[in-house]
Parts: sequence; C-alpha cells; structure tokens
Amino acid sequence: MAQAIEPVLFDKSVEGIDPATVGQVTLSSGKIMPVAAFGTFHSDWAQDYMKDATLEAIRLGWRHIDTARAYENEEVVGEAIRQAVKEGYISSADDLFITGKLWNGHMSPEDVAPAMDSTLKALGVDKIDLYLNHWPWPNVHTPGCAGDHRNPDAVPYIHDAFMETWGEIVKLKKAGKTVDIGTSNHTEACLKLLLADVAADERPVCNQMEMHPLMQQTLLRGYMESEGIVCTGYMSLGSPKRPSRDTFKEHRADLMDPVIQSIAAELGVSPARVSLSWAVQRENKSGGFVAMAARSDWIVENLRAASEDLLSDEQLLRISGDGSEANPGIDANNRLIWGQVFLWPEADGDWRILWDDSQVFKTRADYQKFKAAFNEYDKVKKETAFRG
Ligand SMILES: NC(=O)c1ccc[n+]([C@@H]2O[C@H](COP(=O)([O-])OP(=O)(O)OC[C@H]3O[C@@H](n4cnc5c(N)ncnc54)[C@H](OP(=O)(O)O)[C@@H]3O)[C@@H](O)[C@H]2O)c1
Repeated sequence: MAQAIEPVLFDKSVEGIDPATVGQVTLSSGKIMPVAAFGTFHSDWAQDYMKDATLEAIRLGWRHIDTARAYENEEVVGEAIRQAVKEGYISSADDLFITGKLWNGHMSPEDVAPAMDSTLKALGVDKIDLYLNHWPWPNVHTPGCAGDHRNPDAVPYIHDAFMETWGEIVKLKKAGKTVDIGTSNHTEACLKLLLADVAADERPVCNQMEMHPLMQQTLLRGYMESEGIVCTGYMSLGSPKRPSRDTFKEHRADLMDPVIQSIAAELGVSPARVSLSWAVQRENKSGGFVAMAARSDWIVENLRAASEDLLSDEQLLRISGDGSEANPGIDANNRLIWGQVFLWPEADGDWRILWDDSQVFKTRADYQKFKAAFNEYDKVKKETAFRG
C-alpha cells in the first residue's frame, strides 16, 4: 500500500535543459525517440506525488515519459501533462514522447483494446508514441505484494498464446492509438519466436529491460541491436529505492561500485551521472535509459547525461570491458528484478528460469506435454526423495 511521504518541495530556481539538446535515437520505424525517459514508478509514494515529480521533469526539459498501467498512476501522470500545458512548459501533449505498457493481467486478446482505451483516457491523449508489452507472460501479482507471493495459474512464455496478444497490439498500431510497438523484459528466445512470425511493420522497435553498469546484458543487447531493436535500460541507477520484494542480500549497488566511484571522482560528478552517461554513450549512442528522481537537482542532472557526453573512450572501456583480461569491465550480472512473484509451478522455485530461456514453449500443446511430465516427476520426487 502507498505510504504517506514527507512532502518534498521542488526547487523552481533550478534551471532546466533545452530539450532540443537531448539525444535522440531513430527507431526502425523511422520515428525519433528521446533517449532519456522519465520513469513514473515509485512503490512507496502516495500516487498524487507522482504528478508533481512528472510536472517538474517536464519543466526541466524531459520530453519522454515512461508510464505503465501497472504503476496505477496514469491518471496523475495525465494531470501532470495537462498542468504542464497550462504552465506553458509544453504547447500540447504532442510535444512529449509517451511510452505506455500493456499489463500482464490484460493480455487476453479481448482485454487488449479496452486496456489501451483506459490508458489513453487516463493520460488524456488520443494516442501514445510507443506501447510495450510489459512482460512476456500473463502472470499477475497483487500490487505491493510480498516476495513470497506465488500465483498458481502462472505460466511460462507460450508463443502461440503470446501471438494472440501481439496481434491485438498490432491492431492498436494500425488504428493509430500508438505510433510504435515494442516489448519489455523479453528474452532472446521469445524475441526470436516473435520476429519469425511477424511482418516488417509488426516488429517490435524497442525492448525495455533492466540495464545498469553491474547488469549490462551485453549479449542480449547485441542480439537486439542486430535485429534493429533499440534497447532501453530501466533501473539505470541501480534502483536504490526499489521495493523490498526486489531487494536481496546478494545485490550490489551500482552507485557504490569502485570503478563508477573513481570515474565520478576523476570527473568531479556524481556516480549517478557516470551511470547514466554510460547508458547513453555505450554502443555509439544507440540505446536509451529510463530513470526517475524526486528532487529538482537530480532530475536535471539525470537529463544532462543525455545532452552532454561526459565519458572518454577509456572510461567507457573501464565500465563495459571488451572481453579481454586487461579490460574486464564491471558487469556482474547483478540482476535486481528476479521476478520471483511471476514464477510458474514448473520453474520449481528457481527465479533464474524466468530469464535463461530454458522453459520457453512454441505451442500450448508443447507446454501441456511438459507440464504433465513435470507433474509426474514432481510426484515421484515427493514419493522418493529423502528429506533429512
Ligand atoms: N519495464 C519494466 O518492467 C520496468 C521495471 C522497473 C522500472 N521501470 C521503469 O524504470 C524507471 C526507473 O526505475 P527505478 O526508479 O526502479 O530505478 P532508478 O531510476 O535506477 O532509480 C531511481 C531512484 O534513484 C534515486 N536517484 C535518482 N536520481 C539520482 C541521482 N542523480 N543521484 C542519486 N540518486 C538518484 C531516486 O531517489 P528519490 O526517489 O529519492 O529521488 C530514485 O528513487 C521506473 O520509474 C519505471 O518507469 C520499468
């Protein structure tokens, strides 16, 4: 449940950044996307506070807003957009690039169009720029649930079921409700199956996924880029305020990493700035990032990473590495979202199965066959395995 928070006063004396100086990427559709997206998820906030943060982000020059049905605050983000027009920060919502996401609970084909209509109504716009399928499967958890929450109806990626959802998402694009379509949290196997089954104008143009200096996803990024899919990274600062269900003792903090800290000291900037500059500059500036902040100075500092290059090639190499012993980089596969609340029964409690493509199925029949075999294995295991 959202907690009451201490009101934070945004500092209107902080000067913004000219949005025209903020970097952009060209999507495979030819459309232009600002590389820096202001995130609108915050688990601990009273939701109306997000209105003030989004309004402040627009005042300070952010023109890409990342939203989702799952964040349960599209209405307040919509209010912020209308207020920004009233204040004269933008002339209309058309000045913004808005990303929205189809929630897992709305992936049944008959639910997709109504979900989009609710999103458009809540945001107060006729169309958005990019609509992402939030997760590859229809598994839901209750908002704010604890880490041990399990949904017995959860399933792995089943391609023929997913294609029914994707077909509806494509229709939304053809109806002009979204300019472009994309995915989020999709792995290489899911994307390969999708790309094999769609026409050129039905392909995802972007995949939004967890990406930060200690979780670089180099191989997945390389695959997507080779397919013309832009990779946008979320939790780009290592999500220091993420919900407790996504916090584990194994996790390391990106902003405390010695290499990030030493580069920050060399340049006289914060570790946050180094992390976001890495997110923008890597791979010749072909990707993007989502970040959120609740203070005017951080909001503007984060956007500056997208408008001024900061890191030298040598500093980028120290973070990214090049696969050689001399330049290992700092990637630690430090995944913050384990997704354990989405686990299906046959994953047998192992969250890594969510990400390692070992349980991805082409058809419902294939999955039913696997499920029957698993249930038999599980039954025999319970009958025979010694539990001391
Ligand atoms: N597609 C998906 O499945 C998915 C999943 C997760 C997140 N997202 C998107 O990604 C966005 C960002 O994720 P996130 O908020 O978890 O991670 P994040 O952007 O890495 O971290 C944000 C936190 O970092 C702090 N911060 C911001 N700027 C800072 C600075 N310059 N110096 C020091 N600390 C700073 C902020 O603290 P304060 O709050 O105190 O300002 C904020 O709470 C979300 O809002 C959402 O839009 C998408």
